[in-house]
Amino acid sequence: MSETIFPQGFLWGGAMAANQAEGAYSEGGKGLSTADVIPYGEKRYPIKIGREKRFQLQRDEYYPSHDAIDFYHQYKSDIALMAEMGFSVFRTSIAWSRLFPRGDETTPNPEGIAYYQAVFNECKKYHIEPLVTLCHFDVPMHLVIEYGSWRERKMIDFFTTYAKACFEAFDGLVKYWLTFNEINLLLHTPFSSSGLWFEADENIEQVKYQAAHHQLIASALATKIAHEVNAKNQVGCMLAGGGYYPWSPKPADVWAAMEKDRENLFFIDVQVRGIYPAYAQRIFREKGVSLEIVEGDEQLLKNTVDFVSFSYYASRCAASDMERDENQSVNAEKSLTSPYIQHSDWGWGIDPLGLRLTANMLYDRYQKPLFLVENGLGAYDKLDENGEIIDDYRIDYHRAHIQALAEAIADGIPVMGYISWGCIDLVSASTGEMSKRYGFVYVDKDDHGNGSLARIRKKSFWWYQKVIQTHGRELE
Ligand code: BG6
Repeated sequence: MSETIFPQGFLWGGAMAANQAEGAYSEGGKGLSTADVIPYGEKRYPIKIGREKRFQLQRDEYYPSHDAIDFYHQYKSDIALMAEMGFSVFRTSIAWSRLFPRGDETTPNPEGIAYYQAVFNECKKYHIEPLVTLCHFDVPMHLVIEYGSWRERKMIDFFTTYAKACFEAFDGLVKYWLTFNEINLLLHTPFSSSGLWFEADENIEQVKYQAAHHQLIASALATKIAHEVNAKNQVGCMLAGGGYYPWSPKPADVWAAMEKDRENLFFIDVQVRGIYPAYAQRIFREKGVSLEIVEGDEQLLKNTVDFVSFSYYASRCAASDMERDENQSVNAEKSLTSPYIQHSDWGWGIDPLGLRLTANMLYDRYQKPLFLVENGLGAYDKLDENGEIIDDYRIDYHRAHIQALAEAIADGIPVMGYISWGCIDLVSASTGEMSKRYGFVYVDKDDHGNGSLARIRKKSFWWYQKVIQTHGRELE
């Protein structure tokens, strides 16, 4: 491989999301969010995809977001650990319902504002740049119950009021923003991603694409407002990345892979180019979707993003016949199991070259700076007899992916930074488990809420520290 020289100003860090880390789900005036009503266990998936309606908490269920890893109270010591690793960027999200407990208020909850100001000031103390996602898998439940969430156009106003409050309150503390985390997951896990559930007789596709239109408008408007509040603000879109390989060179398989990719890139095409892609019309026609687009919408969409951020965990594989083998769910999307790569304990393909491919494809398509804002390996970690976690498998995963990113940079792509997912162990978005661990820091907590919450540095902690210290030159 070529020399691992990352450009000057390239940012290194880690990521988390409010609902997977903060806990304190009803403290500080916070309202209930979608993440708070999604339980651990077998009900989780049907609720996440909107097949089962869940508006209230149930007494006999365990909700991992309620306490999570208690970042809400422990943020100072957790950020100190990130600083010790040498982070120059820390990605987190703001819990919308901490600022707007119901979602339809016109002014934010001062306690919520004060909390995030304290978090971002703590980052500043260590010269860590926050990268902040406005909406990462949590919508205030009041908006879901009262308005039907993103199926309703009013959401654009609620979201932009929230976004404006953030840009103003955190001006000078935050300059990198993402509007919607993995926006394409609206199609795959509509409730957890966007607060959507479906009645039995509804055209689900109609609801999803109309909601997508509302989010795309809201994202464009938020981008406009961010730039108005401070010209230095940089706003990115965020794609759940990892392209589809065709199962075989059979033309129908190649076409199937392209269709799957387009389903996801549809969102980014709009956010970067400011118009709907040509292929969208046929998708709408075939799915019986008729979008309500109001006057002025087309103009608003022209407020395009400054950079393209994406997550990359695994590649995927598609055939014209997706039922041909027992297909896996890879980051919420179906995939056939490729025989050419290894898979994690959760069946996610481990494919560093797929990262280089994704980066090249995204840059060829958009010519915007890229930012890899999530990459990591969910794995079982065990404390050894010395109380240590020797997670060489995680180190191997990150090393290979950082090398692949270096190759993408050598291919000529401007990349703003590398952000590992779950720099500290946190709740898994898909399964609600704690045992699907991503962190460089272990958190003593199990899948049922037991544990001391003690933090322990893993072997990968020291490895990542060296990677950052040497700006990616030392990966061994
Ligand atoms: C992405 C999300 O889907 O992948 C994160 O942005 C999520 O919220 C991460 O945690 C890893 O997925 P999981 O399901 O293993 O937690």
